[in-house]
Amino acid sequence: PLADAEQVGHRAARHIATRIREFAPDEQRPFVLGLPTGSTPLPTYRALIRLHRAGAVSFRHVLTFNMDEYVGLPQAHPQSYHAVMQAQLFRHLDLPRHRHHLPDGMAGDLHAECRRYEALLAQHGPVQLFLAGVGRNGHLAFNEPGAPLDSRTRVVSLSEATRRANARFFHDTPERVPERALTVGLATLLEAEEIVLLVTGAHKARALQAAVEGPVSPQWPVSALQRHPNTLIFCDHAATRAL
Ligand code: GLP
Repeated sequence: PLADAEQVGHRAARHIATRIREFAPDEQRPFVLGLPTGSTPLPTYRALIRLHRAGAVSFRHVLTFNMDEYVGLPQAHPQSYHAVMQAQLFRHLDLPRHRHHLPDGMAGDLHAECRRYEALLAQHGPVQLFLAGVGRNGHLAFNEPGAPLDSRTRVVSLSEATRRANARFFHDTPERVPERALTVGLATLLEAEEIVLLVTGAHKARALQAAVEGPVSPQWPVSALQRHPNTLIFCDHAATRAL
């Protein structure tokens, strides 16, 4: 384990930059990068921006797919994942606008939107590297406890635990957190060639334990990663407490 969340961000960013540099892209075949939101990836995003500014990595041949989005928040809402990704990462990189994708939580037909997103991923996939965080209840993207291992992009209801955990972004009011979201499924995630999981903080210790030591169980969606042949975990000391 690494000392703290900053170190995790630094090491994870270096790893992602190396993968992008190693990849031989062309116009037909970009590097496909899967991305999460939440607090955990922020040090990684800051470190990626620093590497980019230092000329160590370019995103000209990168195509990104975010894992989830709230239902019913306009893209301009500061807590929509569209807005968060724009502010925290995209606008700081040489990543053209048409090169980043998120599910549209404002779509008139949400089920059709999920099918569209899954088809777009299939068209451009496989994802070379899917970066992920984990919820303290073990959720992966918005695959809450109980999500089937063979799940695909779909509309989901957020658990009370997740709405409470995310209330800090909504004036500490869980009722203001949207009740539903669009999320890639566990099966969608597991199709990535590599998964990089970030786990920081003592509040994530139980989730990390389920990820590496627990049985593969829908009760801890993150345990599905044990089925993946190429998952790398960057964690800090605090997160390893339950191991
Ligand atoms: C959010 C996101 C997940 C994220 C998780 C943990 O709700 N949908 O993709 O990994 O919850 O968030 P945080 O990193 O802020 O603890």
